[in-house]
Amino acid sequence: PIVDMSTTVIRRPPLVGLGTFNRFQDADAVGEAVSVAIRAGYRHFDCASLYGNEKAVGKAFAAALKAGEVTRDQLYVVSKLWCSDAAPEDVEAACRKTLDDLGLEYLDNYTMHWPVQMTKDSKVVDGKHEFSIVHQGDRKALAATWRAMEALVDAGLVRSLGVSNFDVRMLGELMQDCKIAPISNQFEMHPFLPQRELVAYCEKANVHVVAYSPLGMGGPRSPQDPDLLGDSLVKHIAGEVGKSPAQVLLRWALQRGASAIPKSLTPERIVQNRDVLDWALSSSQMERLDSLDIGYRFIEVPYFNFDQRPPSNVNTAPPGQ
Ligand code: A2P
Repeated sequence: PIVDMSTTVIRRPPLVGLGTFNRFQDADAVGEAVSVAIRAGYRHFDCASLYGNEKAVGKAFAAALKAGEVTRDQLYVVSKLWCSDAAPEDVEAACRKTLDDLGLEYLDNYTMHWPVQMTKDSKVVDGKHEFSIVHQGDRKALAATWRAMEALVDAGLVRSLGVSNFDVRMLGELMQDCKIAPISNQFEMHPFLPQRELVAYCEKANVHVVAYSPLGMGGPRSPQDPDLLGDSLVKHIAGEVGKSPAQVLLRWALQRGASAIPKSLTPERIVQNRDVLDWALSSSQMERLDSLDIGYRFIEVPYFNFDQRPPSNVNTAPPGQ
């Protein structure tokens, strides 16, 4: 694949970004968090049409740009193509809608949100997905969507492309099928789910890792969820380095070569999560954190099963949600 044929420098996402998903669908609160984050020095923002708040995020960008707090070329804005827009003929309109909502002329990175295609009429109602699956992880179909995403680079709408929730096999296939290689793969990563094989593969393939839910969702969300921020080893190491447990987790992700995109609506936490660049964990602290691997995924979705690749061209919707 051709990584970069132009003279434009392709930027990788900055190490710390703000995640903008909000499970309570509170778009204005997310917009406010983006404003706080820009003032705190964040430049990387992880958005998605699915999150339903790109207009509010765009207002925050516009206000900061107008006030001269930041320039467009300092920002690194990522957005994602949702699964119901994955038919090649729908990709450009989806990207233009996102650009319009965010009030931007280009994205720094446009990412395929999942290796999944849903029918065009699939939607989210009151936080619940109503969907039909066209395919999950089908090589040919993913390559066709990707070709339509590559056309967005050629048209100047986006500077680079990324994938999200791709496993080693899907990423490997896409690397063979593409003209413009993905520069990033975004997936859940934290000491309970270190994703060693996938991280090693990405490194080899020159694909930058972006860790989502690096704080383990900030605490248990369901009775079976373990508590990563409250884990005694994480807290102990935080004490050793004089940082918070959240900062230790973010630093762990960075020292494994990844960017991290923690979500927060709380100004002090937004500031705290930024301060992970000028100190380090020792190799023994990294190793002790590595021992926390229990293979636990906080993010499970009804439209994709990580551990079992479904056969191509599944045409029936899975039950539930
Ligand atoms: P809040 O928005 O109330 O600040 P993740 O990105 O791993 O999914 O975690 C997101 C959750 O973690 C949010 O609920 C956020 O809560 C919480 N959070 C973010 N930063 C911190 C921090 N520095 N300390 C504790 N909790 C945090």
